[in-house]
Amino acid sequence: MNNHDQLKITTMDYSKDRRSAENPVKIMDLTFRDGQQSLFATRGRTEDMIPVAEMMDEVGFWAMETWGGATFDTMHRFLNEDPWERIRTLKKYIKKTPFSMLLRGQNLVGYRNYADDVARAFVDRAAANGIDIFRVFDALNDFRNFETVVSVIKKCKKHFQGSVCYSMTEQRMGGDIYNLEYYTDKAKELENMGADSICIKDMAGMLAPYDAYALVKALKEAVSVPVHLHSHFTSGMASMSHLKAIEAGVDIIGTCMSPYAYRTSHPAIEPLVITLLGTNRDTGFDIKLLTEINEILEKDILPKYKHLLNDRRISITSANVLLHQTPGGMISNLVNQLQEMDALDKIDQIYAELPRVRKDLGQVPLVTPTSQIIGTQTVNNVLFDDENERYKMITGQVKDLCYGLYGKTPAPINPDLRKKALKGYSRGEEPITCRPAEVLEPELDKAREDVKGLAVDLDDELIYALYPVTGKRFLKWKYGKEQPPEKVKPKTIEEAGAEQKLIEKARAGKLVEKIEKKAPSKGDNLRIFNVFVDDEYFEVGVEEQGGASLVNYVRQAPAQMSGPAPTLPPAAPALPPAPEPAAPSVSAPVKEPAPLEDSEAGVEGTLLETPMPGTIVSYEKQTGDAVTKGETVVILEAMKMENAIPAPVSGTIKTINYKSGDSVSTKDVLCVIG
Ligand code: CO
Repeated sequence: MNNHDQLKITTMDYSKDRRSAENPVKIMDLTFRDGQQSLFATRGRTEDMIPVAEMMDEVGFWAMETWGGATFDTMHRFLNEDPWERIRTLKKYIKKTPFSMLLRGQNLVGYRNYADDVARAFVDRAAANGIDIFRVFDALNDFRNFETVVSVIKKCKKHFQGSVCYSMTEQRMGGDIYNLEYYTDKAKELENMGADSICIKDMAGMLAPYDAYALVKALKEAVSVPVHLHSHFTSGMASMSHLKAIEAGVDIIGTCMSPYAYRTSHPAIEPLVITLLGTNRDTGFDIKLLTEINEILEKDILPKYKHLLNDRRISITSANVLLHQTPGGMISNLVNQLQEMDALDKIDQIYAELPRVRKDLGQVPLVTPTSQIIGTQTVNNVLFDDENERYKMITGQVKDLCYGLYGKTPAPINPDLRKKALKGYSRGEEPITCRPAEVLEPELDKAREDVKGLAVDLDDELIYALYPVTGKRFLKWKYGKEQPPEKVKPKTIEEAGAEQKLIEKARAGKLVEKIEKKAPSKGDNLRIFNVFVDDEYFEVGVEEQGGASLVNYVRQAPAQMSGPAPTLPPAAPALPPAPEPAAPSVSAPVKEPAPLEDSEAGVEGTLLETPMPGTIVSYEKQTGDAVTKGETVVILEAMKMENAIPAPVSGTIKTINYKSGDSVSTKDVLCVIG
């Protein structure tokens, strides 16, 4: 370890010569990616980054994270923006500061392992479009999932930052798996793979300050490349962890501009600049410039996003991590998921079941996509298991995990669960031990064929290869083959202001006048709530946008509907029929089928209803097809998991009500089986 790694306080007169810091802490600014992803559901638009882009370039950041993670998904899905175009546009304004992206290893910017040909093409295009630093992670810390992408990063002569996901099973670092040795071994493994820097990725803000100190000290001794700490504020420890890491000699820290900082995001840069002023680790940043940037963000940009901020709680920290060793975002996903199923009363059972599911599944780190996999399976267990049978409803992704499709888990998977999960699994009942992508067939040629005549270049083809349903829809918008819906259009600062006033009025129960402004078109996710203010009763339409609620319209309810308060939501859905042994590999909770009694369409039969809100990936059956009970009828993407919805009864498909790409709400009738 170099002597200059030690923090020296007041070693110079900073008012005269600030730039002389021996070893300035390098800063990766996360505002445009992780910051907006953490606080504003990744809804940040390129046009809202441009006003501060040139000023940000002057700060002196080591890098700016501008891409990757969930940005690729949300841009083409919700914002009608070409993800590739963002890199090229921002490059016009940010010419000095290198661009970094978060790459999910072989998952790229999606939620499953893609084939090697897609992975190679994707990294090659990301580099060509302007990404300089690839911060790569794998949810299982199985670095075989890095091999393909790293070979291309190196070939393109770009910076490969190898990340280790920080996870734990105890309240502090330690225990049998996630101890100091685990992390130093992982870091050495990455250095041997050619990592240009090593990142500790503390996605859930679980790293405690003294553990940060011990960890960074150990890493600095174990490897010779720079060490980066990426920590989220969620539990409230990250600012302290940053400082302890700096004392231990960390090279790079990830921060945000203050309007994008704290809560589930990262500590802000401004306090750190002042904290380090006059030390040998001084960043050298101009605090006045940072303040000017913040003013613009506060005044001209953030009003458009304020409604997305989850500010239902006054507290900006969450103790969930400290209590449950579970990421805050994962807890809020679980709460949403339970709410959708009217089973929020089961949350304590979820907290108790979650560590059991995680242990059964090899103590995986909890990060996208493993956090969703563990979370969804936990919900299924709590809702559907009984004393006679555990794991009644195993999701397709858990089966994939048991098969080895995500890689090697840190601890072995419970053999009984593995056996049960792989019974009748389409790829085979024996799990694989090789690098997962080795069993994946090339995908790019087929993708090209699928979007022939629509996609213009490889960038377009990759959007489709990564996200077939929403990607194809985006390409149709992009080339004018289909009109994009209102809800994907940007809003102006004036519209944001008017909307905010409306929300405040509705919240205060003062919204009694008729709305003069033309209401925006109602989206597919509109949900109706009854709101009672003393004797008055309003019907409020609320549209969910990425977990945050946006009041879409409020109107006085019709007279005949007022009266007694609506009955409480029904309890958890009834237990579904046990899946047939020959049932498809992916299962989803399905409600008791309801016979169709008085159909307006004159079609009689059993309704197949949506068990949860989501997007139709595909119908596996067409009108007129015969189905047997348990056979897959629809593939529904919900909670970022693909769920096969089985036929509740045997019969013939009478009608099909949706098509691929449609959004559906709970209890929408997918088809009628007669
Ligand atoms: Co992060």
